[in-house]
Amino acid sequence: MNKQILDPRSKQRAQSATMFLGEDPRGLTPSQLGKVAVLFGGRSAEREVSLKSGAAVLAALQRSGVDAHAFDPATRNLQALVDEGFERAFIALHGRFGEDGTVQGALELLGIPYTGSGVMASALGMDKWRSKLVWQAGGLPIPDFLIIDEGSDSAEVVRKLGLPLFVKPANEGSSVGISKVKSEGELHKAYQDAARHDTLVIAESFIGGGEYTVAILGEQALPVIKIEPANEFYDYDAKYLRDDTRYLCPSGLNAGQEAEMQRLAKQAFALIGGQGWGRVDFLMSESGKPYVLEANTSPGMTDHSLVPMAARQAGISFDELVLRVSGSAHVG
Ligand SMILES: Nc1ncnc2c1ncn2[C@@H]1O[C@H](COP(=O)(O)OP(=O)(O)O)[C@@H](O)[C@H]1O
Ligand SMILES: [Mg+2]
Repeated sequence: MNKQILDPRSKQRAQSATMFLGEDPRGLTPSQLGKVAVLFGGRSAEREVSLKSGAAVLAALQRSGVDAHAFDPATRNLQALVDEGFERAFIALHGRFGEDGTVQGALELLGIPYTGSGVMASALGMDKWRSKLVWQAGGLPIPDFLIIDEGSDSAEVVRKLGLPLFVKPANEGSSVGISKVKSEGELHKAYQDAARHDTLVIAESFIGGGEYTVAILGEQALPVIKIEPANEFYDYDAKYLRDDTRYLCPSGLNAGQEAEMQRLAKQAFALIGGQGWGRVDFLMSESGKPYVLEANTSPGMTDHSLVPMAARQAGISFDELVLRVSGSAHVG
């Protein structure tokens, strides 16, 4: 990719983050973190997952001796963070009002340092269409896609994207409203299912050679994880209900493919302006070409979630991961 497309401010940001974190690459000591609010729960469709992430993060911080407290923005006004003397916030919220830039904006205004991406990258990461446009402009490989609406000509969509194809709302998560379309006749119903969740609906070429994810921690890409769902695709059931999805880390890619995917992940994250930590998901074509699928700026953080799994493979325990992410909290 063209180097000049990377945000020149990101270098400056990395330098100030290093200064902030001091010499110790593992971050601040537990007492230096001060009084920490773990933001979890929230009002999105992913509340239940967030409750689990937040509980795991809170337990890890407390095990490390950090003065950490639970804080659910669904039941409390964020102003209480200031009133009660919190010094930083660990965002363990997923989906709308948590991962989408809104909470990040509120914390900016309150002056409370928070973990993860800022306002713009959070909002962009939640919007599958606009993040694709940014990656396309940056020269990253993404599946062919079209925006479709009620009046789209199914034959034309199928001619351009082939079959099967995927239809999804631009702004949901957790595989909600997503369909794999196998015949032209199924396209309209798939559109309607997706349109129930968002006014913007994406149709996308099927990429069938496997699914991977790359966790980002600071400026580093962690070891790649291969995801092998037991059912047809990585749907809601496979993510949260079934226990027969297989996660392989090490991924089984050869060293060159692994490094290439990590490089693409860092570029994709940098292009949307991501900070601190996150995850970039990939699909692999049958011929072995990687495609960027989507970015998550506030991924799951239970101790069996994907980022902790990749961290473990890199020799970073769950508790250390939580401390590192906490230490990178920022405003601006
Ligand atoms: N273009 C595609 N080709 C093959 N599988 C896909 C494609 N798009 C989505 N999928 C499958 O659907 C799942 C959910 O899609 P994704 O775009 O990641 O939405 P979500 O934000 O809900 O996770 C993916 O993990 C993958 O299994
Ligand atoms: Mg996904």
